[in-house]
Amino acid sequence: MSDPNIVARTDFGYFDVPAREYVITSPWTPAPWINYLGLEGDLCGMVSSTAGGPTWWRDPLQRRLTRYLQVGCAKDRPGRWLYLRDADSGEFWSPSFQPVTWRRPDSYECRHGLGYTQIASAYDGIATEMRFFIPLGETIEIQRVVVRNDSDRPRKLSAFTYREFVNCTAANDLANIQYSGHLAQVAIDEGDPRFLYVLTLSHTGKESPVFAVSETPAGFDTKCDVFLGDGSIENPAVVRAGQCTNSLAGDDTVVGVFQIDLELAPGEEKVLHIVLGISDDRAQTKATIAEWLGDDARVLAAQAALKAHAVALVDRCRFEIPDPEMSVAVNTWNAYQCWINFQFSRSMSGYAAGVGRSMGTRDSLQDLLGYMHMSPDGARQRLLELMAAVQQQDGSCQHQYSALQKEGMGETGYSDDALWSVYAAAAYVKETGDASVLDEEFAYTDAPDVVEDLFGHLLRAVQYSYNDRGQHGIPRLRFADWNDTIGNGKDDEVSESVLVGMMLAKAASDLAQMTGLVEQCDRKVTHNGSEIDACVFLEMVGSEAAAAVNDQAWDEAGWYARGFDREGRPFGTPDRAEGKIFLEPQPWAVMAGVADRERGLQTMESVYEHLFTPYGIALTFPACNPAPSGGFHIYPKGSKENGGIFCHPNPWAVVAECILGRGDRAFEFYCATLPPKASQADPTHYCAEPYVYGQLRYASEHIEFGKCAGTWLTGTAAWNYVASTQYILGIRPDWDGLAVDPCIPPAWEGFRAVRAFRGDTYEIDITNPDGVSKGVKSVTVDGEPIDGNVLPVIGDGGTHKVNVVMG
Ligand code: GLC
Repeated sequence: MSDPNIVARTDFGYFDVPAREYVITSPWTPAPWINYLGLEGDLCGMVSSTAGGPTWWRDPLQRRLTRYLQVGCAKDRPGRWLYLRDADSGEFWSPSFQPVTWRRPDSYECRHGLGYTQIASAYDGIATEMRFFIPLGETIEIQRVVVRNDSDRPRKLSAFTYREFVNCTAANDLANIQYSGHLAQVAIDEGDPRFLYVLTLSHTGKESPVFAVSETPAGFDTKCDVFLGDGSIENPAVVRAGQCTNSLAGDDTVVGVFQIDLELAPGEEKVLHIVLGISDDRAQTKATIAEWLGDDARVLAAQAALKAHAVALVDRCRFEIPDPEMSVAVNTWNAYQCWINFQFSRSMSGYAAGVGRSMGTRDSLQDLLGYMHMSPDGARQRLLELMAAVQQQDGSCQHQYSALQKEGMGETGYSDDALWSVYAAAAYVKETGDASVLDEEFAYTDAPDVVEDLFGHLLRAVQYSYNDRGQHGIPRLRFADWNDTIGNGKDDEVSESVLVGMMLAKAASDLAQMTGLVEQCDRKVTHNGSEIDACVFLEMVGSEAAAAVNDQAWDEAGWYARGFDREGRPFGTPDRAEGKIFLEPQPWAVMAGVADRERGLQTMESVYEHLFTPYGIALTFPACNPAPSGGFHIYPKGSKENGGIFCHPNPWAVVAECILGRGDRAFEFYCATLPPKASQADPTHYCAEPYVYGQLRYASEHIEFGKCAGTWLTGTAAWNYVASTQYILGIRPDWDGLAVDPCIPPAWEGFRAVRAFRGDTYEIDITNPDGVSKGVKSVTVDGEPIDGNVLPVIGDGGTHKVNVVMG
């Protein structure tokens, strides 16, 4: 019997189910396998299984504290490293394996948890455990280190900390060295040598990072070249010699090296705290850190509180299901990834350098779909804040926004950006039943005097898309739609996007339903110079948009064209030599309700036949011959938008199959990219972390077919969470309550769900005696039968037992 608490074991690790941890058992992962620190607050970080990764404060571009390089062969550097040196033998090693990689640990284990990482290892009788986390509500990052002497002789050791500080903004740190390189200044606290000030992050110095250790150090170094001396990061002269030199950096790469000497009797252990903190006031930072240093009970309690908080959030929706890999995803890791996306959008990851893109408008709005149930208030605030930052009077949105400055950034001209706001608002109203969000008033970014409620903003989003239709009655593609690479520029008046046409139909229908909820049906909309009721307008938009894609874009081969090109010709059609079929419009035709059942089935069959591979669904096929013209032609065949298995739209196909009622097909699509399944057979080739989704897997036309890249920050997370929990498992918030509408493999005999919803908790038992995929025969709530499959909102704050029989 296999242990049900251990899932998806490979040579690199496994899921520890009850601990909610992914355990990495080898330091030689095929790529840095990363986790995040700082789930709620202003101080944030990334930490790999060998302790690599940066720390930043509020914004990885403007307020980067420590360095990290995602590029180059020697990836995953630098990090929160520690060197240990045995004074008698002179041998030294790194308890996290990096950077002294030539010294192999006798044992090694890394546990990535929800907002913390623990690395335990041993070398020559010395066991070390390091924990990294940021306590809730604090702007300090703690590295707790326990060093234990497991040998039978007394040991004299020196521990050397390591941090590499950024001298300025992250961009200037890389691009403007003649400037940033001269900002470096450090100081050791005059009264307490446990504190090091890095005076480079701001011009005032008041908000400078403070780096500290719990023991009075035997020395320090801050000059990188002194620390390395005639050695290297793997073999630093100071560590080799066993003594720091107390160097103070002036115009150098600034490092934070403290030397702590330890004497340990056999069996004895010592706890060290290594802390990096920041706030607007350096003296305050020092005072805060001083309270934590040496108070190990407090440190441990803070880690436990962080975990409890995180578990409570992801547990707001949980399942007992017959598939172990799906279970670890829906119950922990996919939910956690959604949370991380909410927090960091596309700013900083193993693939996002944190120097360019901030928060994407479309990306963040989609991220809300997977985060909504964890913190509806947080989602509401983000929705309002984001829209206030990016939306213009004509209804369009800027493509990005800065979470730090709360300002829109970048271009408008993406034809899809604004429409995602309607789905995010609908998801909020369905989750909470609170339509008052639609009354929240705020201005447009280009018209500070034009203040309207959110409802009006959403109406303008729909109007923008409707008004910008081209010659086939389908919205213009402009710079791009969801697919960043297929547009021909903001000024292109000819190209049209079938995907956006479908999105428009769906947005109009969602908004029409919200209109009913807030009794805004007769709210006036200006259309062709006259005023008409919002409901009439939205009904007209919905039916015109649906008719246009059905009349103009359906191809008799059995799928929808992707759009119309600059000459007004359809593309994504069988007559094309390249890109005969694209994924995006096929599931959207079903999701938006524009395809009738026959077309829905036909178009999804085409997806299966032409785009599906064992590793997921390719974005288009055949891919295009690469050309240096920009767009997706720039990529090799089978990579990224040029026919790669773009993971983000894969769950759209799962949703569509569930709407069509084909549980086996939905599950097959779902499993193909589910990380714990997808990585299991060949984790080395798969390469990426087995616990989080990536943006991309290379497709069959690519030499790396099946390899995964771009993990953590990707819309793949939110959409898979929606597809799996709301469509396969079918626990779906709806306008009037919580719908129970599973679409499962018919072989499943049933499953359980526990869902917090509008203040109550529903414990739902679902049985499938007839072996169907879809269909609900009967539902009881607290023993009482109800009509239909939408659980009523009871609102007494209690727990309600629900029994559902499929059939
Ligand atoms: C990237 C972008 C996302 C876009 C997708 C497809 O994931 O972050 O906004 O939709 O690529 O081009």
